[in-house]
Amino acid sequence: MITVKGPEDFEKMAVAGRAVAAVHAAVREAAQPGVTLNRLDEIAADIIRSRGCTPSFLGYMGYPKTICLSPNDVIVHGIPDDTVIRDGDVLSVDVGAIYEGWHGDAAFSMAIGEVPDEVTTLIDLTEKAMWEGVAQAVAGNRLGDVGHAVSAVAEPHGYGVVREYIGHGIGRQMHEKPEVPNYGEPGRGLKLKKGWAICIEPMFNLGGAATSVLDDGWSVVTADGSLSAHWEHTVAITPDGPMVLTLPEPKLVSASA
Ligand code: MF3
Ligand code: CO
Repeated sequence: MITVKGPEDFEKMAVAGRAVAAVHAAVREAAQPGVTLNRLDEIAADIIRSRGCTPSFLGYMGYPKTICLSPNDVIVHGIPDDTVIRDGDVLSVDVGAIYEGWHGDAAFSMAIGEVPDEVTTLIDLTEKAMWEGVAQAVAGNRLGDVGHAVSAVAEPHGYGVVREYIGHGIGRQMHEKPEVPNYGEPGRGLKLKKGWAICIEPMFNLGGAATSVLDDGWSVVTADGSLSAHWEHTVAITPDGPMVLTLPEPKLVSASA
């Protein structure tokens, strides 16, 4: 079932979203060479709880940590451990928080120190693809419009667009209907409605799109070992257009009709 939210529900999701944004800023600053992934997880836990929220990933299907940290060829769902961050790494940071039962969920990727230009471009274009998808999150548009806008950014560069993991509806649960794929045909798929909230989360690989899961049961890696980037925002579909809830302040984005 897809649940329809009101403005007061979006307000609560925005409280969770602000906590997520605060974690993003803190992790971005702390993610220096020499720091462990576990340390970043602790920083995240402190911030989420200091804002009266709880981490949504911890305990979800048995997930053991507060956030997901996915270095290099890890696409998503990397588990923080004693791995030390090094110059030249790509790190994807995925954070979820709950405020009074309402969820926010967002991710970003960053380079640690110096990386080759093609890696910077991968990270930047994955972010751009997310924003192109966000701009399509308008009542009356269809899920295919969102997915097509996302994958169209990857296409000219030959990136692998991950298909096995996709975006999702969000609200009182982290994962609600509908499914939000990062591919699709314009004008096809479910029609988006006011009061929905969805997570738009492209995952682009420098190599192929194929994935596999490590023996830890969580870490999703590129099958060919290529680097990967992941960006995500929680977006409310409002009468005034797409409103991004996982920022320091909620922000209305200009819609692409
Ligand atoms: N943000 C993710 C998602 O959209 C992560 C959840 S993974 C978890 O699915 F298991 F760690 F919670
Ligand atoms: Co998500």
